[in-house]
Amino acid sequence: MKAIVFEEFGSELVLKEAEVAAPKAAKGEVLIRIAHTSINPVDWKIREGFLKGMFPHVFPIIPGWDAAGVIEAVGEGVTSFGPGDEVYAYTRLPEVRWGTYAEFIALPESSVAKKPKSITSTIAAGVPLVGLTAFQSINKIAKVRAGERVLITGGSGGVGSYAIQFAKVAGAIVVATAGSNNQGYLKELGATHAVDYTKGTLVEAARAVAPEGFDVVFDTIGGETLALASTLLKPGGRVVSISETPKNGTFHFVYPSGAELSEIAKLIDEGKVRPAETTVRSVREAAAAQVESRSRHVRGKVVLAINF
Ligand SMILES: NC(=O)c1ccc[n+]([C@@H]2O[C@H](COP(=O)([O-])OP(=O)(O)OC[C@H]3O[C@@H](n4cnc5c(N)ncnc54)[C@H](OP(=O)(O)O)[C@@H]3O)[C@@H](O)[C@H]2O)c1
Repeated sequence: MKAIVFEEFGSELVLKEAEVAAPKAAKGEVLIRIAHTSINPVDWKIREGFLKGMFPHVFPIIPGWDAAGVIEAVGEGVTSFGPGDEVYAYTRLPEVRWGTYAEFIALPESSVAKKPKSITSTIAAGVPLVGLTAFQSINKIAKVRAGERVLITGGSGGVGSYAIQFAKVAGAIVVATAGSNNQGYLKELGATHAVDYTKGTLVEAARAVAPEGFDVVFDTIGGETLALASTLLKPGGRVVSISETPKNGTFHFVYPSGAELSEIAKLIDEGKVRPAETTVRSVREAAAAQVESRSRHVRGKVVLAINF
């Protein structure tokens, strides 16, 4: 099959197109013919070697942890899917080797879900990694409840686009941060209050919306942003970050879950959650798309069409 691979850690220049052996569906696995994948910051972090202490890496590595496509074949014992099913998945495996900037990937059945019916495969490819991250952080870790005041940093990014909406579905009052160009987007997603982090007005906004402090801070940015957000927490409030371990809170790392992707698909099909704004590029533009992601200013998602 055709794939984008890299044989050593480095800049975007290590990415190249190659012909590699296609994976096969082992027992309990499905083989997906990938139609679209998406860019996540973890893709360039892996390429630069930042995750080498966290997972075993086997070169040549195919980047990419998101997929939308069609089941090509199923392994022994697979019961939930059959050839031709339209699916989507967050595709992280125990070792970093097989990714989704490629024509096929084999995955445990448990990581895969039927794609939301109301959206195209193109749009669906941008959902799994960021959708699951937001779903798990807001609903499973922070356990946001109706009426709570929630601060979300980085609301216009991939994760933030879903975190705002999941918090709203839970009935929360949401304050979200982003730069000047993304204030309208935060409101469209359902943020009750949009705050421009470049203007230094977060504390003022927090005083107006959550005078006793926020019940929950969900941070996607880290550093000074997380430090400032943590000062706006109510005593006994919960901090969850996906960027770094907070002083008094929880760091969450997203885990694959077909069952939770099915719940997200239902929310999308019921019109309760809309997909993040999505830009589409060719897989042959993967290097440029990773550079763009590394700038930290992508709005919503960038999806790659697998059109070698
Ligand atoms: N632990 C996990 O499981 C996990 C899972 C997913 C992602 N992550 C990590 O979480 C981070 C976010 O991921 P993502 O996919 O959402 O990234 P992303 O889509 O690249 O986020 C980019 C967005 O962040 C906004 N932004 C940048 N600096 C900001 C600041 N100081 N304050 C508020 N907003 C700011 C940008 O808005 P402006 O252009 O307006 O500045 C842009 O819209 C990444 O570091 C990623 O690696 C971790």
